[in-house]
Amino acid sequence: MHFHKYEKIWLIFGILSLAVFLSIVGFTAFAHGNESVLCLPAGGMDTIDPEKVSEQAPFDKPGVRQIDEDRYEVVVVAQAFGYDPPDIKVPVGKEIIFTLTSTDVVHSFTIDNTKVNMMAVPGRITHKSYIFDKPGKYLVLCNEYCGSGHHYMSTEIEVYE
Ligand code: CUA
Repeated sequence: MHFHKYEKIWLIFGILSLAVFLSIVGFTAFAHGNESVLCLPAGGMDTIDPEKVSEQAPFDKPGVRQIDEDRYEVVVVAQAFGYDPPDIKVPVGKEIIFTLTSTDVVHSFTIDNTKVNMMAVPGRITHKSYIFDKPGKYLVLCNEYCGSGHHYMSTEIEVYE
């Protein structure tokens, strides 16, 4: 195989860009590893049939449930262009485990002013644990472009004392 001089330059440029990109991704993953927001190791890559989300536990009953004295699970289904359940109320200072999936395209579940930025991917179940340290209302936004209603895709979490 013979490379023209410019093709070689582009090839090298391509490889360098890839190396830079991978090191940024690696660094970001490392930086996130030290934050208080932790992915549950067991649940990080669970899969689900996106067409049967509403039939399968826990997504057959979206909403808040108490696991034990200190832990709550919030089950959320994202779809164009909203979240189910439409309103979420959780206590302050307790571990809140968000369990998320999507029934159509990729969305996000991004809680404003926190480090929670979850991807809602059809076919996948994502978990994230978070403890709210202040009561109040938290805005949740979709940060992944998902279609004509993307900019209106939001909800609110009420964190109570
Ligand atoms: Cu859902 Cu953007």
